[in-house]
Amino acid sequence: MNFENENGQEIIISEKDMIVSTTDRTGTILYANDIFCKVAGYERKDVIGKPHNIIRHPDMPKVIFKLLWDRVLKGEMLYAFVKNISVNGDYYWVKAYVKPVLENGTVVKITSYRKPLNDYAKNIIIKLYSTLLDYEKSHSIEESLQFLLSYLDERGLSYDQFIDRLSLEKSVENIALRSIDFNKHKNRHIIFKEYVVNTVTNKQFDELDMVNSEVCSFGKWIESVSTEPFVQDSAWKKVVSYNDKFHSSLNEYVEKAKNSDSINNLSSILKDLDEDINNIFTNLTIVKDKY
Ligand SMILES: Cc1cc2nc3c(=O)[nH]c(=O)nc-3n(C[C@H](O)[C@H](O)[C@H](O)COP(=O)(O)O)c2cc1C
Repeated sequence: MNFENENGQEIIISEKDMIVSTTDRTGTILYANDIFCKVAGYERKDVIGKPHNIIRHPDMPKVIFKLLWDRVLKGEMLYAFVKNISVNGDYYWVKAYVKPVLENGTVVKITSYRKPLNDYAKNIIIKLYSTLLDYEKSHSIEESLQFLLSYLDERGLSYDQFIDRLSLEKSVENIALRSIDFNKHKNRHIIFKEYVVNTVTNKQFDELDMVNSEVCSFGKWIESVSTEPFVQDSAWKKVVSYNDKFHSSLNEYVEKAKNSDSINNLSSILKDLDEDINNIFTNLTIVKDKY
């Protein structure tokens, strides 16, 4: 463990540590191991018999605890990413495995086994929890659950799959964004532009008609995702308009070259084309980061 002295600092939990606590079915702490007490900064006698929310961090959205309690009281285990607060206001992130203990079909106790959370998952979870927390200021817990479920749905993931992917440091982006190879399409734009310029320079205008339909598999992809939630995003709208601009400028370049003796005066169009390509993929990266 690495403790910071100032208030509100992150306590980094070692991979070797396992933080364990057990509660009854109302969330009263029955057991806490040494490492639990050490990290949270409590004596064991100060936590036994207390409600587990003594280490609840205000940054945690309510909906995560709703999921937790709904599942464990049905006798099901779950994993959850949780930010906890220690007695002096420091905080620590954990991946908790929460497992109910059943006797004669009834949940009598619940134990949580916690390990540190990897940084990749933490970064994504911080953004998601902050959005949920904000949402919960003006919405009910049921609405927050619906919000979380649509977030997962957009990514084609169940809650458990989402947790699994983050634990393995795998992408949890929107499924359409996850499956498109950006670099390939960026390179295709660059190569296509070079091809058109070379063809124009050699005055082989006839060849250009042949490639037009193949040009924009990216444009076809844009059309195919028209019902995805990110199409309302301003960065996405820029992706579409820069892609349109790229193709219309390329056509303009060809048309002007056909009707002109010299292509030297068309260099500003070429510069614009390079900028269009950059703008398409910079904005796409913004969309990818958000969804
Ligand atoms: C076994 C078990 C472990 C729990 N561990 C935590 C925990 O580490 N941090 C936490 O904030 N809540 C934990 N909870 C959930 C709390 O009981 C409580 O629901 C949560 O802190 C929200 O409190 P609130 O409803 O008063 O806001 C745990 C619950 C159980 C059953």
